[in-house]
Amino acid sequence: MFLRLVALILGLWSLTPTMCDHTDSKNVVLGVPILSAPDASFVKSIETFSCSLSNPPKEESILYTLYGNNGTKKHGDFSAHGEYTANFTLVIQLSYDGLFYCNASVQNNTAIQPVKSKDHYFRVIVPVEGAELSSDPSPAEVFEGQNLTLSCSVKAGTDISYTWLISNSSVEARHRQEGNRLLLVSVTSEDAGNYSCLAWNQLIDSVHSSISTQKLVTVKVGVSKLNISFSVQKNGTGYLAQVRCQAGRGTLPINFTLYHENGEQQGSEETHSHQASFPIPVELNRHMGALHCVAENGHRRVRSDVLPLRVVPVGGSVRLTLEHDDSGSSDRVSVRLRCAVDRGTFPQFHWFLNDSGLDSRGPFHRIEEHSRSLLLTSVNDHNSGSYHCEATDSFDPIAWISSEKLFVDRAVASRVPVTVLSVVLGCFLFLCSLVTGCCIYGALHRRRPAPRKRAWILNSTAMNNMEYEDDELVEDEYMEDGDLATAANMEDRDTVEGESLDEWEQIEKALQINCMDEEVPPS
Ligand SMILES: *[C@@H]1O[C@H](CO)[C@@H](O)[C@H](O)[C@H]1NC(C)=O
Ligand SMILES: *[C@@H]1O[C@H](CO)[C@@H](O)[C@H](O)[C@H]1NC(C)=O
Ligand SMILES: *[C@@H]1O[C@H](CO)[C@@H](O)[C@H](O)[C@H]1NC(C)=O
Ligand SMILES: *[C@@H]1O[C@H](CO)[C@@H](O)[C@H](O)[C@H]1NC(C)=O
Ligand SMILES: *[C@@H]1O[C@H](CO)[C@@H](O)[C@H](O)[C@H]1NC(C)=O
Ligand SMILES: *[C@@H]1O[C@H](CO)[C@@H](O)[C@H](O)[C@H]1NC(C)=O
Ligand SMILES: *[C@@H]1O[C@H](CO)[C@@H](O)[C@H](O)[C@H]1NC(C)=O
Ligand SMILES: *[C@@H]1O[C@H](CO)[C@@H](O)[C@H](O)[C@H]1NC(C)=O
Ligand SMILES: *[C@@H]1O[C@H](CO)[C@@H](O)[C@H](O)[C@H]1NC(C)=O
Ligand SMILES: *[C@@H]1O[C@H](CO)[C@@H](O)[C@H](O)[C@H]1NC(C)=O
Repeated sequence: MFLRLVALILGLWSLTPTMCDHTDSKNVVLGVPILSAPDASFVKSIETFSCSLSNPPKEESILYTLYGNNGTKKHGDFSAHGEYTANFTLVIQLSYDGLFYCNASVQNNTAIQPVKSKDHYFRVIVPVEGAELSSDPSPAEVFEGQNLTLSCSVKAGTDISYTWLISNSSVEARHRQEGNRLLLVSVTSEDAGNYSCLAWNQLIDSVHSSISTQKLVTVKVGVSKLNISFSVQKNGTGYLAQVRCQAGRGTLPINFTLYHENGEQQGSEETHSHQASFPIPVELNRHMGALHCVAENGHRRVRSDVLPLRVVPVGGSVRLTLEHDDSGSSDRVSVRLRCAVDRGTFPQFHWFLNDSGLDSRGPFHRIEEHSRSLLLTSVNDHNSGSYHCEATDSFDPIAWISSEKLFVDRAVASRVPVTVLSVVLGCFLFLCSLVTGCCIYGALHRRRPAPRKRAWILNSTAMNNMEYEDDELVEDEYMEDGDLATAANMEDRDTVEGESLDEWEQIEKALQINCMDEEVPPS
């Protein structure tokens, strides 16, 4: 009995701790630990990773363990009693980029399974540093319409954003930004300037940035238009043509080359101006061949028109004509005298009143249109008289050819508009008679079957006498200009009256046009 009692006591004794343990272990339930940590941090910054249980068992010491680097590295243990949160302070290194989690277990009790937190993805950001700008093409020089790519590279940095600046303000939206590149598409001269890129990375509470040095983008302009012309000068006993190649827009320097029609190069020059001129010896009255210029400034070659090189000295007769000038005000009578010579590539005209030469400008006159015309702004007692002009070669004024004299006074000058009036009146009268003629003709031919094709022909030697030739004509003969149209032929076989009326309107218009024209070749 005693033995049995002892055995029972021993048995109970031996059972008690296990029973106690058993009941203790059963009570302990560890929830899922919560890992709280920043999502991202700069490398070398100091961050706290905290692990806690929402409902930790009292009176137990909990062991928290932090794992990082995608679970490959144990960052530390932390024993916390009861409700304490385990805090792990880490100096962030680049290798920490990846998954973190923490484990919680009851200390010195392997019977209870450790519990793992959810994964937390942690990004390590390298602060940006050393932004640099490069261009394609390099150097950053392009012609209008071409593309240019700017690239921003950094010495260090991850998760970088880029901002592009031109002269320190943001670039136009029409340019495409792709990653660290800026594509300038079809540049214009407005895109030229100093570019820089701002590379930056940012977390909620801090920003790192780096700005590149400025890069000058140059937009060049191709040669747009090329004109060729020449002037002549005397060189000893011979003559020289100065052939001038004149470019419109275009970035300098420009290479000009002059070619003969036989392909021979006549001269070539790289200039820092928009023109070049080449001296070519010429003989008068001889065809020296055709020339053209070519200009290029690195973009494309531009060709001028072809210039026939022939110098003809003035010759033949010189004609002086008088025109009404309607640019002046109505209360002052102004007329324009015009001088023309039969031949001559470079004529120079000289103007005379009562045989004394006129300056290029006077109180009542101006010599205009490369000396071809003389504008009398007012005709009065001071400048009435006998006018004439003389033509000579501008490059070699040896021969002087004189026009006939033309007497101009107030009466003559004020008659000019009368001429115009009488011409207009003549036109009107002619029109009236024509319309009447058409009416009669139309009435006679109304019954005729309508052909598919209609045509009306109008013959008119319209007024080619707006100007009169010399002083003989000044004698009141203006009405002779009235016979403007010699004949009018018209076919109108329309049966519909409305349409024939339309045609009269057309004819009327055509006549008006003809009356306006100075010369109408017979159709
Ligand atoms: C961990 O940090 C939190 C706040 O940052 C603090 O309340 C807590 O007491 C800390 N835990 C320990 C064990 O120091
Ligand atoms: C962890 O995994 C992520 C994603 O797979 C990877 O980007 C990162 O580099 C890894 N980190 C380490 C330390 O291996
Ligand atoms: C757990 O056991 C270790 C030795 O194995 C001991 O140093 C430590 O104090 C114990 N901790 C607790 C909370 O009992
Ligand atoms: C410029 O870029 C645009 C768009 O990428 C392309 O369509 C065009 O052909 C490019 N122009 C030149 C001259 O390369
Ligand atoms: C642009 O910024 C740089 C650096 O901050 C400065 O040196 C430069 O003068 C600025 N240029 C203009 C046009 O504001
Ligand atoms: C670009 O910068 C340079 C030097 O800072 C300056 O001389 C130049 O005028 C600038 N050009 C433009 C177009 O802003
Ligand atoms: C101009 O004439 C001189 C001789 O009078 C000659 O030496 C020179 O070559 C000529 N100039 C040109 C461009 O032909
Ligand atoms: C070229 O000639 C045309 C017609 O004579 C003129 O309008 C134009 O201004 C000239 N261009 C240049 C660059 O001289
Ligand atoms: C002009 O021609 C020369 C010689 O052919 C060449 O070296 C130079 O690059 C050219 N310049 C331009 C702007 O085209
Ligand atoms: C020009 O000569 C005419 C007569 O010969 C004369 O009436 C007139 O006043 C002269 N004109 C001038 C401006 O001297």
